[in-house]
Amino acid sequence: MTELRTARLLLRGWRESDLEPWAELNADPEVRAYFPDVLDRARSDASAAFFQAGLDRRGWGWWAVETVATGEFIGFAGLDPVDAGMPFTGVEAGWRLARAAWGHGYATEAGRAVLAHGFGELGLPEILAVTAAGNARSRAVMGRLGMVHDPAEDFDDPGVPEGPLRRSVVYRIRR
Ligand SMILES: CC(C)(COP(=O)(O)OP(=O)(O)OC[C@H]1O[C@@H](n2cnc3c(N)ncnc32)[C@H](O)[C@@H]1OP(=O)(O)O)[C@@H](O)C(=O)NCCC(=O)NCCS
Repeated sequence: MTELRTARLLLRGWRESDLEPWAELNADPEVRAYFPDVLDRARSDASAAFFQAGLDRRGWGWWAVETVATGEFIGFAGLDPVDAGMPFTGVEAGWRLARAAWGHGYATEAGRAVLAHGFGELGLPEILAVTAAGNARSRAVMGRLGMVHDPAEDFDDPGVPEGPLRRSVVYRIRR
């Protein structure tokens, strides 16, 4: 499995010791503001196992992120094939960090490494990113990464229940 390193971050496989801070992050309503619900411990643990299975299978996917300076787990970042049932296909980049890790440029730094890996090692022609239309912080990361939003592509995410979080945006960047 590939690990990605940046000046301040290590993107690596998931460890048992990540499960508790990962569950805390997923139980935080602020972190989950643009998702339909918060996750309980069982669903949080299951998501980490699912992410690690993807990394084992392909060598890339949703990596656990830790800060190099302290070794602290702060969330995830990575690349994943777009879910079936979405109105487009491709590979998407994504990120989710604990509230305390926001405001340091970590998501953008991880995102840069992820795009470089996708376009370099993996030879992808294009990478997408998708989020709820109202998720300004995630959209700002996409913008800082040079990804471009076309309003004509805005869509209602079939995986999100009816409501204000359903309207979603797509950002794209080509190699
Ligand atoms: C989306 C998310 C990862 C963005 O995190 P973020 O911290 O806002 O984004 P970045 O890591 O790029 O950090 C940028 C901020 O760090 C600041 N910063 C501080 N030190 C910095 C440094 N050394 N380098 C770069 N930026 C720095 C920037 O000025 C910017 O601040 P601002 O938000 O006040 O403008 C975070 O909000 C999150 O986890 N949200 C919940 C999960 C989620 O919605 N995920 C996306 C679903 S698709």
